[in-house]
Amino acid sequence: MPAENILAVHRLSKSVGQGEHQLSILTGVELVVKPAETIALVGESGSGKSTLLGILAGLDDGSAGEVFLLGSPLHQMNEEQRAELRAKSVGFVFQSFMLVPTLNALENVQLPALLRGESDAQSREQAKSLLTQLGLAARLNHLPSQLSGGEQQRVALARAFSGRPTLLFADEPTGNLDRHTGERIADLLFSLNRDFATTLILVTHDEQLAARCDRRLRVRDGRLQEEV
Ligand SMILES: Nc1ncnc2c1ncn2[C@@H]1O[C@H](COP(=O)(O)OP(=O)(O)OP(=O)(O)O)[C@@H](O)[C@H]1O
Ligand SMILES: [Mg+2]
Repeated sequence: MPAENILAVHRLSKSVGQGEHQLSILTGVELVVKPAETIALVGESGSGKSTLLGILAGLDDGSAGEVFLLGSPLHQMNEEQRAELRAKSVGFVFQSFMLVPTLNALENVQLPALLRGESDAQSREQAKSLLTQLGLAARLNHLPSQLSGGEQQRVALARAFSGRPTLLFADEPTGNLDRHTGERIADLLFSLNRDFATTLILVTHDEQLAARCDRRLRVRDGRLQEEV
């Protein structure tokens, strides 16, 4: 794969289940992403957006095809190798947040930075600053169960930023937020793109957020279509 591509996907398919219960979710996805591009993935509910995002980020396996992430062949790597690559270069915001329930907001956000080898003091300051930017200065010590849905979503975003990823995936990052908070999140995402050349791949139903991205890709019938 040419080194200038952040992501290159060829003939990716994904099926789940066996025999007559088999379900084809993706049937032949082609995609090339350049550094610092911003991409909105759109499509109907159930079309396979979250499935595709998980495979692109190396969280899940495709059934066939090739996925090169930062030049590394995810389709040939084991879970441990993929986890290492993710910790180094990838941020992911889940549709369902997936915060660690036993850690408070600050500790959740600190985690990726600690995994990258940053000191406790440094990662703590950074986590505080990220959470403050997202309006959560008064929620640092709250556990996920003590936070509202939108607050958990913001903690999940701060956590995804905290590892300083080259590539950030976010599954409906503004899905649970009011317009004002949603715009703040979008501003933060695009400032990350501008300041650190972070590549953004966002699943979104939010037209305004999609319109701010360089490209819009629709998942339909198991494939990706570029929309212009
Ligand atoms: N592990 C699984 N086993 C069986 N079916 C699955 C599995 N994972 C996903 N699916 C099905 O695959 C389809 C795509 O799911 P996916 O979560 O990717 O959709 P989506 O586009 O993200 O939808 P939404 O906009 O509602 O989040 C759905 O019909 C879902 O039910
Ligand atoms: Mg989804």
